[in-house]
Amino acid sequence: MNTSSKRIQVLDTSLRDGEQSPGCSMSAKQKLRFAHALRELGVDCIEAGFAASSEVDANGIAAIAREVRGVGIASLCRCTPGDIEAAARALEAAERPRIHLFLSTSPVHREYKLGMSQQQVLDLTASSVEQAARLVGEVEFSAEDALRTEPAYLAQVLQRALAAGARILNVPDTVGYTTPGEIRALFEYLRRTISNAEQATLSAHCHNDLGMAVANTLAAIEGGATQVECTVNGIGERAGNCALEELVMAVKVRSEVYRCDTGVDSRRLVPTSRLLTRLTGMQVQRNKAIVGANAFAHESGIHQHGMLRHRDTYEIIRPEDVGVDRSQMVLGRHSGRAALIERLAFLGYALDDAALDALFAQFKTLAEKKKEVFDADLEALLASDDGQSVDGWRLKAFHISTGAGEGTRPAAAVEIRDTSGTALRGRASGDGPVHALFEALAAATGITFMIESYQVGSVSTGEDALGQASVITLIDDEEINGVGTSTDILEASALAWLDVANRLARRARGRITQVADRSRVATA
Ligand code: KIV
Ligand code: ZN
Repeated sequence: MNTSSKRIQVLDTSLRDGEQSPGCSMSAKQKLRFAHALRELGVDCIEAGFAASSEVDANGIAAIAREVRGVGIASLCRCTPGDIEAAARALEAAERPRIHLFLSTSPVHREYKLGMSQQQVLDLTASSVEQAARLVGEVEFSAEDALRTEPAYLAQVLQRALAAGARILNVPDTVGYTTPGEIRALFEYLRRTISNAEQATLSAHCHNDLGMAVANTLAAIEGGATQVECTVNGIGERAGNCALEELVMAVKVRSEVYRCDTGVDSRRLVPTSRLLTRLTGMQVQRNKAIVGANAFAHESGIHQHGMLRHRDTYEIIRPEDVGVDRSQMVLGRHSGRAALIERLAFLGYALDDAALDALFAQFKTLAEKKKEVFDADLEALLASDDGQSVDGWRLKAFHISTGAGEGTRPAAAVEIRDTSGTALRGRASGDGPVHALFEALAAATGITFMIESYQVGSVSTGEDALGQASVITLIDDEEINGVGTSTDILEASALAWLDVANRLARRARGRITQVADRSRVATA
C-alpha cells in the first residue's frame, strides 16, 4: 500500500441489494456460505439482508452474525421502530453490528412515496437514528435518492443524522441518474458544508442504470467518499450496483490517480465471483471486466504476438492478481487428499472433515471419468452441493432412450428421492431427450413450470469436461435459476431442473408470503 493512500472502507451489499434482484435469490445456507467468502475477500462490512422484510431474512442475518467474525455485519431497515428493533435482534450476536437506516429525501420520493414534508423527514431521521444508536454501536444513515435531492436540504438531513449518532452517512444514487462530475462535486460540497464532517464516514452507493455506477463511485472517492457500497459481479436492482471487482481493481491499477486503497485481497476476486455465479445461477457476461471468461483471453494474432514479447503490451492486470491461475496445478485420479486440500485452500475453501470426505469421494468419481480435474470442476462440485444438498428432491437414477426416424419418440424414466428417502418415479416421452427427461421429473415431483431459458455449457476444457446446465423459469416476473453439473449433460440438465423445483418448493413452503412482504419494503 502506498503510504500517502487513504483507506476506503468497502461495504458489500450482494446479500441485500444484490440478492433482492431478479434471478439472484439464495437460500439461508447459500447466503452464509457467501458471507464467509466475503470475509475472506476482505470487505469491511457485509450487509447481510433486511431483517424486517421476512423471517427468512432475519434468521439469515442472525446466522451470519453468529458465524462470520472479524467483519462488520449490517441489516438494512426503514425508519420505523419495528424495523429498527428487528434489525437489532437479528444482529445481536454480531461482533460489529451495524443498523443501516434509510429514508427518502428527494422531492419526488417525499411527495409520492412518503407523503412527507421536508421537516417531517428531518424529524424522522433524528428520532430513528437516536433509537438505533441506543441499540448498536454503528449506525449508518442513507438518504435514499440523494442524487435527486436539493443539495442544501440533503446536507441538512445528513447533519441531523450525524448529530443524532449516525457515523456513516450514505449518499445513494438510487436510480443511477448521476454523472461522475456531478457526484464528485456533491461530495466536495457535503464535505465543506456538514459541520464536523470529519467525524463521519461519507459513503457512496451507486446504481448502474446508465452504466456509470463504477465511474460515479470512483468520482465520489475523488470528492471525499471514504466508504463505497458495492456488489460482487455488480448484481443488484435493475441494471445492478457498482461492481466490487471493478472498483477494487480500478483503485489498485490506477493508484496514482485515486491515491487510495481497500482492504480487499484482489486474488480472491475471481473465485468469489465464480462462487456467486454458482450459488445464484446468474451468469456473468464473457467480456465483463475483471471476472468475465474473456477478461484475460487474447485471441487476435497481433495481440498474441505482443503478449509473447512482453505481457505489458496488452495486459494491464496480471491474471494471478485477481485469482486467475494460469499455470494451474491439475488434479487427476492419482491425486490424494493432501493435493485436494491444498488446491481447495488456494481456491479459498476450508472444509470440515465430513464435507471433505464427501467432496473427496465426489472428486475421485469425477477423476475416474475425466483425465484432469480443473479448478472450475472442483468449484462446480462444491457449488452443486450447495444447490442439491439443501432439503429437497435428489436425483437417484434416470434412463433415456432416444433416436431419429419414423415411430421413434424419445422417452425417459427417472427415480428421485425426497428428503425422507422415499423413492418417487416418473416416466414420460417428449419431442427430444431433454423434453422427455423434464416431463418425467415433472411426473415424479408433481411440479410443473414453464422453462424460460435452458442452457448447457462446459465448465472446463476437454471432451470429458464437466457440463453445466442452467434452467430458468419466471414466477410472478421473478427469475428462478437452477444449476446442475455433471460429466453427463443430461444428468446436469436433470439436476438443474430439480434445483429449480427445489427452489419453488421451498418458496411454496415458507417464502411466498415473505416474498410478498419484501416487495412492499424492497428498495432500489
Ligand atoms: O439504492 C438505494 O437507495 C439503497 C438504499 C437503501 C441504500 O439501496
Ligand atoms: Zn441500492
